[in-house]
Amino acid sequence: MSTAIINGHNNSTEDFTKHVFGGGPDNAEKVVEENKTCGKILTVLAWGLVVLTMPFSLFVCFKVVQEYERAVIFRLGRLLSGGAKGPGIFFILPCIDAYARVDLRTRTYDIPPQEVLTKDSVTVSVDAVVYYRVSNATVSIANVENAHHSTRLLAQTTLRNIMGQRPLHEILSERESISQHMKALLDEATDSWGINVERVEIKDVRLPVQLQRAMAAEAEAAREARAKVIAAEGEQKASRALREASEVIGDSPAALQLRYLQTLNTISAEKNSTIVFPLPIDMLTYFVKAKEAATAKANANSMYGNKE
Ligand SMILES: *[C@@H]1O[C@H](CO)[C@@H](O)[C@H](O)[C@H]1NC(C)=O
Ligand SMILES: *[C@@H]1O[C@H](CO)[C@@H](O)[C@H](O)[C@H]1NC(C)=O
Repeated sequence: MSTAIINGHNNSTEDFTKHVFGGGPDNAEKVVEENKTCGKILTVLAWGLVVLTMPFSLFVCFKVVQEYERAVIFRLGRLLSGGAKGPGIFFILPCIDAYARVDLRTRTYDIPPQEVLTKDSVTVSVDAVVYYRVSNATVSIANVENAHHSTRLLAQTTLRNIMGQRPLHEILSERESISQHMKALLDEATDSWGINVERVEIKDVRLPVQLQRAMAAEAEAAREARAKVIAAEGEQKASRALREASEVIGDSPAALQLRYLQTLNTISAEKNSTIVFPLPIDMLTYFVKAKEAATAKANANSMYGNKE
C-alpha cells in the first residue's frame, strides 16, 4: 500500500517537472551542455581580456581578504568549486565573476527587552545577548538572503516562545538551563544558514512593580511567621527546664543554699568593689514560718468570732 503511494508520488513529481520545464531529461541535458559551451567561450574571452590589458588588469583581478574573512565567488552565476576563498589573495576574472565577502568573526546581538506573558500569566520584560558567527561562508550566502538579520529575528521569537512556556518561578531560578535550551534551539534552526550560535545569556528579567511589592510582602510575612515559631519553641524548652530545676531544688533544701552561694560568687566576680554580706537562708525560713503562724492564728480568731 505504502509502496504504491510512494510510486504514485514519484510519478506525479516527474510529470510536474516535465510539464513545467517543457521536456524530458534529454532536453535538460541539452540546455546544460549549451550553458557549459557558452560559459567556456566567455571564460576564454575573459582570460584574453586579462592577457591583453596585462599590467593593468592585475589591479582588477587580484583581491585580498583579511584573516577573518572569506570570499564566496560566483562565476557566471554558479558557485565556483572549491568553496570559499581566503584568507589572503584570490583571483577573479573581470566581467564574469562576482564575489561576496563574509566576516567569520563572532557577532554579538543584544536582544531588546521583550514583553512576555509567562505560563502563569505574569507579564515580564526579558532581554538577552546572543553570540553567533558564520561557520560556513558559502552556505550563509547561498541559502539565506540575509543570514544575520534572519538570525536576529529568530533569536527574538525564540526568546519569547521559551519564556511563554515557563512559569515565573522557573524563569527566575533556572536562567542557566533556559539559556542552554535557547542556544540548542537557535543553533539547530540556523544550521542550514551556515550560522553557529555559540552562546546565549539571559541578561535581565524585570517584574512589574506591583508584583515586586507583593512578593516582598509575602517573603517578609513568611520570615516573621518562622521567627515567631522559633521564639515559641524556645519559651517552651526554657519553661520545661525551669520546672525541672525548681523540682530539683525543692527536693533538697541544701541545693537552694548552694545556689545562693553561687549567686554571691557571680556577683563578687562582676562587681568586686561591692561588699557582700552573706545572709543565712535559714533566717528567711524563720520569717516565713512566723508569718504562717500569724495567718493561722488570724484565721482561727475569725472563725471563733463568727461562731459567737
Ligand atoms: C559548507 O557547506 C557546503 C555545503 O553543505 C559544504 O560542501 C562545505 O564543505 C562546507 N564548508 C565548510 C568549511 O564546512
Ligand atoms: C576587680 O576585678 C578586676 C578584674 O576582674 C581587677 O582588675 C580589679 O583589680 C579588681 N578590683 C578589686 C578591688 O579587687
